[in-house]
Amino acid sequence: MDRELLEAALVARERAYAPYSKFLVGAAVRAASGKIYTGCNIENASYGLTVCAERNALFSAVGAGEREFTALCVVGDTEAPISPCGACRQVMAEFKVPRIILANLKGDMKEYTLEELLPYGFSL
Ligand code: THU
Repeated sequence: MDRELLEAALVARERAYAPYSKFLVGAAVRAASGKIYTGCNIENASYGLTVCAERNALFSAVGAGEREFTALCVVGDTEAPISPCGACRQVMAEFKVPRIILANLKGDMKEYTLEELLPYGFSL
């Protein structure tokens, strides 16, 4: 299951558009429906418009009608498993993603809960 999610994130990573940072990231989220949605980071010459892989995966799923998720996996070429940015953690919190699997290209994988990644996060 998690292996399939990681494979999907790795495939998505190959599609990253990161000509500025050259740092490719892939993400895959599994919806309660069982379907997997993927995303990669997409950069822009106006740097602040860049959107991370995790948000692209989640937004693609939500845009397809999904609201509930069972797990999200993100992968990058980092020494330790990649650590998602604060903005992406907040978006994961919005959709209450229960399991967040962080990985790197060496095959290191570590699972976290939302509470571990975003303690005392903002919500309405
Ligand atoms: N990035 C992601 O896509 N996800 C992360 O978890 C960390 C950072 C992207 C944003 C930017 O395109 C590049 O990585 C360098 O920050």
